[in-house]
Amino acid sequence: MKQPIDLVLIGAGQRGALAYGSYALARPEDARIVAVAEPDPERRKRVADQHDIDDAMCFADWRELTSRSQLARGAIIATQDQDHVPPAVAAMQAGYDVLLEKPMAHTLAGCVQLVQTAEHTGRILQVCHVLRYSPFWRALHEVLESGRLGDIITVEHRENVAFWHMAHSFVRGNWRNAALSSPMILAKCCHDLDIRVWNLSSPVQRLSSFGSLRHFRPENAGPEIPDRCTDGCPVEQSCPFSAIGVYLDFRILPPETARQSEKDMAAGNPPSWPLSVLSAENTHAARLAELQSGPYGRCVYRCDNDVVDHQTVSMELENGTSVVLVMHGHSNEEHRSMRYDGTRATLRARFGHHSEITIHDHGTNHIEQIPLDPSTSGHGGGDHGIMADFIRAVRGEIAPLTSARTSLESHLLAFAAEEARTHGTIVDMPAFRTRADEVTQAQF
Ligand SMILES: NC(=O)c1ccc[n+]([C@@H]2O[C@H](COP(=O)([O-])OP(=O)(O)OC[C@H]3O[C@@H](n4cnc5c(N)ncnc54)[C@H](O)[C@@H]3O)[C@@H](O)[C@H]2O)c1
Repeated sequence: MKQPIDLVLIGAGQRGALAYGSYALARPEDARIVAVAEPDPERRKRVADQHDIDDAMCFADWRELTSRSQLARGAIIATQDQDHVPPAVAAMQAGYDVLLEKPMAHTLAGCVQLVQTAEHTGRILQVCHVLRYSPFWRALHEVLESGRLGDIITVEHRENVAFWHMAHSFVRGNWRNAALSSPMILAKCCHDLDIRVWNLSSPVQRLSSFGSLRHFRPENAGPEIPDRCTDGCPVEQSCPFSAIGVYLDFRILPPETARQSEKDMAAGNPPSWPLSVLSAENTHAARLAELQSGPYGRCVYRCDNDVVDHQTVSMELENGTSVVLVMHGHSNEEHRSMRYDGTRATLRARFGHHSEITIHDHGTNHIEQIPLDPSTSGHGGGDHGIMADFIRAVRGEIAPLTSARTSLESHLLAFAAEEARTHGTIVDMPAFRTRADEVTQAQF
């Protein structure tokens, strides 16, 4: 009988504990978390209790964990964007195969260092491009690989971030400021750019990008607006970004998220995302206290945010296909939508609460709806899907679906898009990739 693969968890936050730790709880025959490194004592204790981890295997910092002789076969690294490279490099050097949250690094040099360490040590470095592991994106990939669309001439891909999610993560929250985390095109769209790399084998030749922070700026609030929604804001009831409406009475959350939040509270369960980001305690009082003092109660027009709220990227592929990516934070609902127009058929798809893939065949006028397996975990099944694949890769049963080098390409596209946007230039991708090679040579 197969034994579960032992793993260590570095960073027991939203992703580490909830998205990946939950896999080990659901599939104990497959994976077991045997050690945790997490500075927050409450989070560390929660994970230790859930996974029955001995005190001696709980650490307040990843350095304490990686300096021990190897404690397990694999390491899950789910620290914040700017804290990926040092623990991932140390873990690979200590012999761990690594599942690393995206973006792999917030700098080009960091990404290259990771790829090189993976290749020098021979360890697996699987970057959490979780979409690839969900039934929807696998089905889309199969259709595109089958060739039934003919030659693909144009692709439109939209990343529609819901307005309240934009306010939560990219105005008030962890990814609001590029100097503290990473540019939004990297943080949010390295997934979408990775899907492009996966689905269209022709590399990007040239790329341009436009976008800005248009709405969430101080000049869009009058002097009568207080710094916090809880400070008697005169427009609180009508403001779509009211922190009270999102986190206290849930009127601004999507109905299914609001219902789940009500249920969790009534049952005394821990809060689910996005409430889980504010406080582990699932009470009105705990969240109100957080809104009165923490980042999530701030007026969206009075934050230290600087990441864009919309950005487009135009890409010309070597084979002549044109691809447009539109990312924005003003959508009524969270979803991705796309359209592939080929010489034999048009494919339209949406990925979100109601996912679908439809193919319109030019020759027959036939319209086909592609059947999709229901998903059971976050990101349309991708969160648990990547864990299942990582475990099988560590066991040596399969090759990882993506190598660290493949993941580098989506990150290069994001860095190039940011350069094109901020400098107003068209980026020549072969020359941009040469820059990555130069970084590589400079490092080793
Ligand atoms: N794959 C996806 O689709 C997806 C979705 C959301 C977020 N992410 C990424 O996942 C990563 C984590 O995001 P999150 O929302 O879980 O963040 P988080 O802040 O909830 O969790 C990060 C954890 O790392 C811990 N930490 C900090 N310093 C540490 C140290 N020295 N040693 C060990 N742990 C340390 C923090 O205390 C925190 O608990 C980010 O890079 C984010 O961009 C990926």
